[in-house]
Amino acid sequence: MLEAIIRLSNIKKTYDNIEYVLNGVDFQSGKGEFVVIQGKSGSGKSTLLNIIGLLDTYTSGQYFFEDRLINPQKNYPHLRANKIGFVFQSYHLIESLSVKENVLLPFLYSDSRLNSCTLTTIESILDKFNLSKFERKKVSLLSGGEKQRVAIARAIIKYPDIIIADEPTGNLDEENTSTIINAFQQLARAGNAAIIMVTHNSQIADCGTSKYLLSEGKLIRC
Ligand SMILES: Nc1ncnc2c1ncn2[C@@H]1O[C@H](COP(=O)(O)OP(=O)(O)OP(=O)(O)O)[C@@H](O)[C@H]1O
Ligand SMILES: [Mg+2]
Repeated sequence: MLEAIIRLSNIKKTYDNIEYVLNGVDFQSGKGEFVVIQGKSGSGKSTLLNIIGLLDTYTSGQYFFEDRLINPQKNYPHLRANKIGFVFQSYHLIESLSVKENVLLPFLYSDSRLNSCTLTTIESILDKFNLSKFERKKVSLLSGGEKQRVAIARAIIKYPDIIIADEPTGNLDEENTSTIINAFQQLARAGNAAIIMVTHNSQIADCGTSKYLLSEGKLIRC
């Protein structure tokens, strides 16, 4: 692993001040890693990913994002928009917009401008995911596999340092699953990002560079 991008130390999370969903998670990851996390339903996997992705806050412990201590009382829209790419099982795309408009959404939420370089990048990413022919098509008219390819294209368009994927292949057939997993493996190999993926599928769990189990509030390396 290259230098750690994220470091979690003794992270705890409770929603009701009674039960701890996360109860002392220690974890770190850097560019070039493709981390796969498994665990039973309700074990806290999405909770952990949401904390890592700065979509939710933690109750106690310490979380460093690129050496910056994340304060659970604060919001970090800039970090989220510029450094983190998200892929969810249910895609989270805007159905009424076209493929290209969806992929360009991250630029709406950040300071970075669209320029000719970005437009070239988007063409090559659409091409890579076999989406060029759908560029102007509304997302509502696509299949699940096509939608998830759009979601990945959107997640990587700004070259984030970390990509968070919560059950990204949960709704996909084998072929689309392979496309998504291959894309993550390539990104990790290129050393451009750390990929943190949750999956229920133990076959694809072995496609990463490291594997963890979330159980009883702890993250255990397998
Ligand atoms: N916003 C919330 N408010 C209250 N409780 C929550 C909230 N989000 C999650 N929980 C609870 O935290 C626990 C862990 O939920 P989480 O969604 O993180 O599990 P998971 O491992 O992702 O499960 P799955 O595999 O089914 O997606 C569950 O008991 C859930 O009910
Ligand atoms: Mg979940």
